[in-house]
Amino acid sequence: MTEPLLSVQNLAIEYQRPGWRKPALRVIHDVGFEIEAGHTLALVGESGSGKSSIGRAVLGLTPAASGKIQFQGQDLLALKKKERRKLSGDLQVIFQNPYGSLNPGLTIGQILVEPLEASGKFTRVQAQRRVAELLDRVHMPKDTISRYPGNFSGGQRQRIAIARALALEPKLVVCDEPTSALDVSTQAAVLELLRELQDGLNVSYLFITHDLAVVRTFADRVIVLEQGRIVEEGLSAAVCDSPQNPYTKKLVAAAPVPDPSLQRIRRNARLAMKHA
Ligand SMILES: Nc1ncnc2c1ncn2[C@@H]1O[C@H](COP(=O)(O)OP(=O)(O)OP(=O)(O)O)[C@@H](O)[C@H]1O
Ligand SMILES: [Mg+2]
Repeated sequence: MTEPLLSVQNLAIEYQRPGWRKPALRVIHDVGFEIEAGHTLALVGESGSGKSSIGRAVLGLTPAASGKIQFQGQDLLALKKKERRKLSGDLQVIFQNPYGSLNPGLTIGQILVEPLEASGKFTRVQAQRRVAELLDRVHMPKDTISRYPGNFSGGQRQRIAIARALALEPKLVVCDEPTSALDVSTQAAVLELLRELQDGLNVSYLFITHDLAVVRTFADRVIVLEQGRIVEEGLSAAVCDSPQNPYTKKLVAAAPVPDPSLQRIRRNARLAMKHA
C-alpha cells in the first residue's frame, strides 16, 4: 500500500483558559484520519466542533497537546520552525474571508509574485510569467495583476486567493470554509475551479465546511465532528445519503439543498426522527 499524503493519529488539542489555576480546555479528542494524494477529505460539524482547530494544527498554527501528524512521511510536530518553513510551499491554506486575506495596499501582482520570488525557485521575470499563467488558470483577466484587492468582488478575491495558494504547486491545501462567504452561484464556480485544479495538479484538499450539500458534491470522504470527537466517517455520498450517527442525521436533516432527490431523503430522515 502506498503511504498517505497526510496521516493524523490520536490528535488532541487544548487551549489555555485565562486564569492561571484553570486547567487547559481540551477541544479535540483522539482524532485520526488520512488523506491520499489527489483526494478531498471534508471535515464537517457544527460551529465550535473543532474543525478549524484541526486545520490549524495541520498547518502548524496551533500546537497539538498530543498525537501525531505525518505529511509525506515526515513527522510535522517534531519539525523545527526552519524545517517547517521549507514545507510551506507544499502545504497551503485558503481561508473563508477573501477580504481579510489579501493585503489591500499591494497590487495583485505584488501579492502573488513576492512569495514565488521568496521561495528562491523563480527569478522575478519567471515569477511574473507564472503569476500571469495562474491568473489565467483561475479565470481572471490579464489586467488583474496591476489592480488592488479593493477592485474585486468576494468571488474574484477568492479566486485570487486560490491562485496564491496554488502558486507553488502545493501537495495539500487546507480550505477553511472557502466558499461560505460567497453566494450560491459564486460558490459553485469556486468549487468547480478547485476541482479543475485538483484534476490538473493532483493536489489534495482538507476541506472544512459546515455545509453538507457541498460535502456531497465536492469531497471523496467526510469526517463528522461533534464537540471535538469523530462520530462518523466514510465516503461522502454514503454519509450524506444514509447517515448512521444521530448527530450526523440531525446535520443532514437540517441542511437545505436544491437537489430534489436529496430533499426527499432529508424529508424522510426528518420524518423518521420525528416518529423515532
Ligand atoms: N484560540 C483559541 N483560544 C481558546 N479557545 C479556542 C481558540 N480557538 C478555538 N477555541 C475553542 O475551541 C473550540 C473549537 O473551535 P474551532 O474554531 O476549531 O471550531 P470550528 O468547528 O472551526 O467552528 P466554526 O464553524 O464556528 O468556525 C471552540 O469551543 C472554541 O471556542
Ligand atoms: Mg472554523
